[in-house]
Amino acid sequence: SWTTGSVIEEQVAAIRERVGDKRAICGLSGGVDSAVAAALVQRAIGHQLTCVYVDHGLMRKGETEQVEKDFVAATGVQLKVVDASERFLKALQGVSDPEEKRKIIGREFIRVFEQAQAEIIADEGPAVEFLVQGTLYPDVVESGGGTGTANIKSHHNVGGLPEDLEFQLVEPLRQLFKDEVRMVGQELGLPDEIVQRQPFPGPGLGIRIVGEVTKDRLDLLREADAIAREELTAAGLDREIWQCPVVLLADVRSVGVQGDGRTYGHPIVLRPVSSEDAMTADWSRLPYDVLSRISTRITNEVAEVNRVVLDITSKPPGTIEWE
Ligand code: XMP
Repeated sequence: SWTTGSVIEEQVAAIRERVGDKRAICGLSGGVDSAVAAALVQRAIGHQLTCVYVDHGLMRKGETEQVEKDFVAATGVQLKVVDASERFLKALQGVSDPEEKRKIIGREFIRVFEQAQAEIIADEGPAVEFLVQGTLYPDVVESGGGTGTANIKSHHNVGGLPEDLEFQLVEPLRQLFKDEVRMVGQELGLPDEIVQRQPFPGPGLGIRIVGEVTKDRLDLLREADAIAREELTAAGLDREIWQCPVVLLADVRSVGVQGDGRTYGHPIVLRPVSSEDAMTADWSRLPYDVLSRISTRITNEVAEVNRVVLDITSKPPGTIEWE
């Protein structure tokens, strides 16, 4: 019968057998799946695994530290962190269009990630043969099967590498559903902050700023988001809501009054939703006192924000994210 213990034992044995004395790399996104896959492979082959984490500067407060410190502390994994925040900010300069932002972030991400991979391969030599991915069972079903090999183009700039590197894929979560992955992660000793994490989009806060993405705006949104998350967690609502995007309307200003002066600041939108699979969603009926605390704290503690509004649109017609 299915137990997390037996899944871990089986996978660890299979990975050891398959990888042998070769090396593997794994990209960490900060999400549950890649973290659990990496932890499982680390359990099997230890320092033969190197993880790569690209910090695009669009993460929420504490998320990069969670990977850098908590994940490493829990697993002992060998981690290469690439701080690419300047690069992403530069690429996003002057861009307000949502699709444009998504394209730029996706493109830069792949570039930085491939370069980091290439550097690892250059250091480790030809022994890097395996690429670990956190593919889940629903992903396998949706894409209609899938094979075990992927072509990852290496970066031209790094000398001595073949044009096309063939990696064999290691996908230890291929038979599992999300809740099972969480159980495996827990059993592997990963902290709750990683294992119970709600969905967060790859382009991060970049698509939660309506308007141009700048460092100041990111800092401001990070503060507001941290407050909302803190209060939702304190109220014990994390398991009840699917996720709660916090959005900065950077292109909108409204008049307010604070202390004894007029303000002309930006609104923050709260977008708490309930959902089964994110295909459809309903807005969460959060308790008024929780909403009130979030609103008071954000307007008191975050400079330049003088209004907090609640998004009460279901999906459809609204999407969960604003961009
Ligand atoms: P929407 O906004 O389409 O979002 O209703 C549905 C779910 O997907 C997440 N999301 C993303 N996740 N990369 C991701 O990994 C993305 O580009 C992306 N865009 C949206 C969103 O947070 C929600 O859970």
